[in-house]
Amino acid sequence: MLRLIVNRWLLLLGALLLFVVVWFIPLPNVGASGTHAFTLDMRQFEFTPGRIEVQQGDQVTITLTSSDVVHGFYLDGYALNQRVEPGISRQITFTADQAGKFRYRCAVSCGALHPFMIGELVVNSNFPFWRALVLLGVSLISTLVYLYSGANQA
Ligand code: CUA
Repeated sequence: MLRLIVNRWLLLLGALLLFVVVWFIPLPNVGASGTHAFTLDMRQFEFTPGRIEVQQGDQVTITLTSSDVVHGFYLDGYALNQRVEPGISRQITFTADQAGKFRYRCAVSCGALHPFMIGELVVNSNFPFWRALVLLGVSLISTLVYLYSGANQA
């Protein structure tokens, strides 16, 4: 009887400890940060693909090509700028360390609709979701075990 009570307290203490540890794990470099390679083609007046999605912390390599005239690739938030002539591919590599949505736009005047030559980089922050999921799991399991051990004891 006494042992069971001690076990339950230990269990609660363990759950609490795990909770605190998960809560305070430092943000960066948690979870596997991968490498992603994309080819991004530019033509009047669009990017293909028009949307790129990566995870925060990923190393991203983009091979830039142009199918018609000279374009430029400018990425908001990361201050990347690369001029691309037709027939010559260019590579840029960066670490997607900022989460959010960032426009990429053409940086070389390439025709009438040049201002509308826009795409979007989405950098997903996986951390808050991951942390919430683990915390939920810890709470749920410890509650279940607590209730179960309580039922056993009665
Ligand atoms: Cu393409 Cu300006």
